[in-house]
Amino acid sequence: MEFEHIPVLLDKVLECLTLRKNALIVDGTLGLGGYSEAFLKKDPSWRVVGIDRDAKARELSCKRLSVFGERFAALAGDYRDMKTLCAQAGIEQADAVVLDLGVSNMQLVDGERGFSFREDGPLDMRMNQSAGTSAAELVNTLSRDELTAIFRKYGEERFAWSIAGAIVNARAASPVKTTHELVELIRQGIPAPAMRKMNGHPARKVFQALRIAVNDELGALEQGMKEAFSLLAQEGRLIIVTYHSLEDRLVKYQFREWSEQGLGTLEPRKAEVPGEEEIERNPKSRSARLRGFFKKDLPDSAKGRMGPWRRV
Ligand SMILES: C[S@@+](CC[C@H](N)C(=O)[O-])C[C@H]1O[C@@H](n2cnc3c(N)ncnc32)[C@H](O)[C@@H]1O
Repeated sequence: MEFEHIPVLLDKVLECLTLRKNALIVDGTLGLGGYSEAFLKKDPSWRVVGIDRDAKARELSCKRLSVFGERFAALAGDYRDMKTLCAQAGIEQADAVVLDLGVSNMQLVDGERGFSFREDGPLDMRMNQSAGTSAAELVNTLSRDELTAIFRKYGEERFAWSIAGAIVNARAASPVKTTHELVELIRQGIPAPAMRKMNGHPARKVFQALRIAVNDELGALEQGMKEAFSLLAQEGRLIIVTYHSLEDRLVKYQFREWSEQGLGTLEPRKAEVPGEEEIERNPKSRSARLRGFFKKDLPDSAKGRMGPWRRV
C-alpha cells in the first residue's frame, strides 16, 4: 500500500526554524518524514533525529530519508522519553524540537490499524502495536461510567452516556471487535433528531476520544514538553503543531508558564493557523495550530512580567 502524508503548516514550521549552522533538530513525531525531509533540504549542514513509536512509520520514513545518509537517524520510542532516547544515541542537546501531534495519514487509511471510522478493521488504535491496551480492550472492559468519562473528556461528546450504554448492552451478548461494529453502536446511542442535524461523521468524537485514551496522548504531550525543554540548548526552539483544543490548551499554558518564569519567549507571539489555500488543498489541516517557544534566559528584571502571551 502506498501512503501519502501532506505535511501540515510546513512553510510556517520552516519559517520558525531559524537555527545556527550544524544544528541538530529532533523531530519527535517523525511520521512519514515529511517535516524531516524539509529540514534536511533547508540547510545541508543540519542533522535530524526522528522519533516515532510506530514501527511502520519508522520503516517508511527511513527508506524515504536514506538519501540523506548520516544526517538523519530514526529512534524507536515515545517522544515523552526523548531525553533518554537521545542520550542513548549519544545526543545531549538539541537546537530544536518539533512535534506534529496526532495520527498520520498512513495510520488513518490503513483499516488494519483501527484508527478510522470509515475503514472496517480490528479496533486497535495503538500507535505502538507491540505494547499497551487496544481500543477493543477499553471498549469491552471499562464500565459505562468510565467510557462516558473518556468520551466526554477527550471527545467532548454530548451523547457520551447513551453511547456508552449502547456499547455496554451490546458487549453483554458478544464483545465489540471491529471499527464498524463500534460505529453502529455510536449511531444507536445518538438520538435520531440529533443525528439528522449532525455535521460530520457521528463517530468522529468517540474515535478521537478512544485514540487519545489508548495512546495517552495528553500525558505524552505534558511530559514530552518538559523533556523537550530540558533537551534544548540555550536559544533552542520548541515548535508544536496541535489538532484540537485539548492539546492546544496544554501547549499554550505550558509556554505561558515558562514565559512568566523568564525562561524564554513565545515565538511566534500568536498561534499560527493554516490559510484558506492550505485548507482547500488539505482539509485535514483545518484545525491545526502552531505554537513556538524560544528558550533563552531572560534578565531578572524581565522575569514574571506579563508577557506577550496575553495576546494569544
Ligand atoms: C501527524 S504524524 C507526523 C507527520 C510528520 N510531521 C510528517 O510530515 O510526515 C504524527 C506521528 O507521530 C507519532 N506519534 C504520536 N505520538 C507519539 C509519541 N508520543 N511518541 C512518538 N511518536 C508519536 C505517530 O505515530 C505519527 O506517526
